[in-house]
Order: sequence, then structure tokens, then C-alpha cells
Amino acid sequence: MAADGAPVVSRQFLSADHYRSPDAAERERAIYAPHFWHPLVPLSSLPEGSALALELLDLPLLLSHPPGGPPQVFLNRCPHRGVALLSPAAEAQACRRLVCPYHGWTYGLDGLLRAAAREGEFAGAFSRQDWPLVALASAVRGSMLWVAVGPDPLPLEQQLDLMEQELGAELERPRVLLASLERELACNWKIAHDNTLDDYHVAIAHPTTLHRQQGPVRHYRHRFAMHTNLLATPVVNPGQSGSGAKEFLTFGAPPWIHWLVWPDGRLALISFPPLDPGRCRLQVWLLGDPSQQPRGQEWIEELGNFLEEDRVLVEAAQRGYSSGLTPGPAHRLEARILHQQALYARIMGLVEPPAPSASA
Ligand code: FES
Ligand SMILES: [Fe+2]
Repeated sequence: MAADGAPVVSRQFLSADHYRSPDAAERERAIYAPHFWHPLVPLSSLPEGSALALELLDLPLLLSHPPGGPPQVFLNRCPHRGVALLSPAAEAQACRRLVCPYHGWTYGLDGLLRAAAREGEFAGAFSRQDWPLVALASAVRGSMLWVAVGPDPLPLEQQLDLMEQELGAELERPRVLLASLERELACNWKIAHDNTLDDYHVAIAHPTTLHRQQGPVRHYRHRFAMHTNLLATPVVNPGQSGSGAKEFLTFGAPPWIHWLVWPDGRLALISFPPLDPGRCRLQVWLLGDPSQQPRGQEWIEELGNFLEEDRVLVEAAQRGYSSGLTPGPAHRLEARILHQQALYARIMGLVEPPAPSASA
């Protein structure tokens, strides 16, 4: 174990095949993605009495928030003949019922069938209670709505283990969406995930953006748990901090997510859900106190600046990996990449590299 708590770096990066092979992408859909929870939307973007359709990993999802109850996630697929009940949209829409556009089956926001057209004329016995929407497991954590796409996911608190330990109750402080950002990246999701875990490149590739936020490399503090890792950097001028924290925290977590946490309570969640072996989506949600809303646009543009610097690099790296690169040696400041790759290898059943170790 190194002095800063990082696992000793004596391992290699994952081989390039994992970054370009359709077979690897297929196995990730079948094995890796179902093992974890996936952030969908901030809770503040799905008020009670509203619904929203979106896609995750090619799954059509329907998010709803019944009045007086918790939010729900269903397959956006009418049980009658499979048509989507709602069209994907950027924002949730206020509604009391979901009416299928094909034959008019009508659902409550709780996913129960309320009415079907010409109900007495089905071929066999018909009972509404036999035809609810298919529900997926969902949870609210860190002011976000999460979904599990497999039947037996890792508990969400284990997936976010180090965040839970470092932030404690601060993680559950109610936050609202201040601003968001979404782009498509022409790279495998692992190139984007690796890059956001890469503490070796920041001083070189982001000299006037992220590096100014994170400060000198000699002050970097690393921490590793079973699933999540952390880079903490001191904040010289923390501003109006209510928590007393004086560090800027950058967490990396499976399956492909990152959390940035500022001393003023702001929190950005970055996710890279895959689209196909050579493309992924970049999603950023900036969350904070409602009083911070006036600065949301300014802050998301700051994030967008260094993420654009990264876009150029990750898309170039994808071309390098696709041309048959054998990756070079890993640096001490790339230990967070190796940590997540070891986790990936363990879940995917690969022999390289070895399983991650927990340390605090
Ligand atoms: S497919 Fe929805 S009512 Fe027929
Ligand atoms: Fe970067």
C-alpha cells in the first residue's frame, strides 16, 4: 500500500480489445450494467403528478411521480401490444393518467390499469389488475432518482461506499437541479470513465480550467474503497461554506459515474452511459441549494469548458485504441483508473487485472 492509501501500482491497463469489441459491449450489457444502479434524473425534475419518458441502455423507461407517493420507474411499454405510453422528452410533463396512443388503455401514475376500451369484448376473461406496467427497482439517493436494470443489483449504498463514508448526511441534503449538460462522445464509455479518473492529465490538459480548481498535485489526497474512489484537493477560498469542508472532492464510482462536490454544497453528477462500442453519452447534472440557482448557468459552462477539453482527448484516444494500441505503463496518478478497471474485470469475470483492494 502506498503512503497516500493508494493500492501499489504494478498493474497494466485493460487491453484495447475491451474498448472496441461489440462482443465486450454485449457482455457489459448482460453482466456489468445490471450489477449497478443508474442515475436517471434529479428528483426536482420529476415533481409529484408528472411523468417523463427516456431511454437508458436501449431500454425505454417511463418515470412517474404519483401524488403522495415515491417516484416510480416502469418500462415504457404498453402491456397490450408494446407501444410506448409516452414519447421521450427533455422535461417531465404534468399528467394524471397515461393513455396509450394505440388502443387507449389508461394507466394511473402508479402503473395500474384504470380502463381499457371496450373492456367487455376481450377474447377471454379480462381483469385490469392482471395488466400493470412492468416496474423496475428504483431509489432516491443524493437528490437523484436511480434505477436498477437487473434483478439483483449491488445495494446502492455499497456502490457509493466512499461517498457515503465521506459525505454522510451531507449526501442527503435536499438539492435541486441548477443546470445540466448532455453531449455525445465518439469514444467507448471506458475511455471517458478512465479520463475522468485520471489525475495524471489534469495539470497538463486543463491548465486554466480544472487544474486551477484542483490545485498543485503535491496536495492531492487519494482514498479507495471497494467500489468508489476519491481525489480530494484543498480549496484555498471555500467561500460561504455551511459544512465546514475545505476540500473539493472528486469521486469515481461504478458503473461509469463521477461526483464532484464543492465546499459550498454544490454537487455535480457526471455519467457516461454507453451507446455502442465506439460511442457514449456524457450527462452532467449540477445540483445545489435553490439559492444557488442564479449561478447555475455560469457553473455548468465552467464544467463544460474542461469537459470539452476532455472530449478532444477521449475521442483521439478512442482512435488510438481502435488502431490496435497496447497501452503503456500506468502512473501513480492513474491509480483511480486501475481501481475501477480491477472492479470491472472482477465483475466481467476477466483474469486481468486482479481484484481491487479496499483501504481507507
Ligand atoms: S398497445 Fe396500448 S392499448 Fe394497445
Ligand atoms: Fe480531463
